[in-house]
Amino acid sequence: MLKTVIVVAGMFAACMISLGSAEPALAQVPAAEITTKYGLSLAPVPLDLHRKNRRQVALGSYLVNAVAGCNDCHTNPPYAPGGNPFLGQPEKINANGYFGGGKCFGPIISADITPDSNGLPAGLTRAQFRDVIRTGIDPSDGGILQVMPWPIFQNMTNGDLNAIYAYLTAIPSLPPPTNTCP
Ligand code: HEC
Repeated sequence: MLKTVIVVAGMFAACMISLGSAEPALAQVPAAEITTKYGLSLAPVPLDLHRKNRRQVALGSYLVNAVAGCNDCHTNPPYAPGGNPFLGQPEKINANGYFGGGKCFGPIISADITPDSNGLPAGLTRAQFRDVIRTGIDPSDGGILQVMPWPIFQNMTNGDLNAIYAYLTAIPSLPPPTNTCP
């Protein structure tokens, strides 16, 4: 019995190792299993779904609003008055400032990642968005994005990054932040 367990455990470990060493075919990894209804229900703002892939936007909404915590940093402040869960209040996201940036992390200010006048989130095409997340290189000045957890997000699949991008194209547009950080 013990021997069987050891053999099975060994096979499992070998399997994990071979998975780990395989060249990641990011585009082919299946996405998280969620319903479209659930994903869309997580968005705290009205979504423009016109000519968009609902299923993809829903997955992006799930990743953004249930997994990656973009709101904590890209909305200033993240919660509406009376809606701060850290103060024991029932959570209500600051929909008016959703993803408009302007939160300070020391001297670093978070970016507005809502769609620009051409509908491009943070002014980035989908390919540029994926490059930014994968490299951390700020397209505006060539520097390395600070605070932004791109070293973690770069491990996401192409499918997941495309879904996040699709979601960001569907949220309301906001003007860039006007505040400065000390
Ligand atoms: C821990 C805080 C934090 C989290 C979480 C976070 N970001 Fe950021 N992000 C930042 C900051 C700060 C910047 C600006 C960094 C700089 O200028 O050096 C930034 C920059 C960016 C940029 C570059 C924009 C530009 O115009 O240069 C994009 C795109 C972006 N974030 C998208 C996202 C998305 C999408 C998520 C969630 C999946 C996310 N961020 C989560 C803090 C965060």
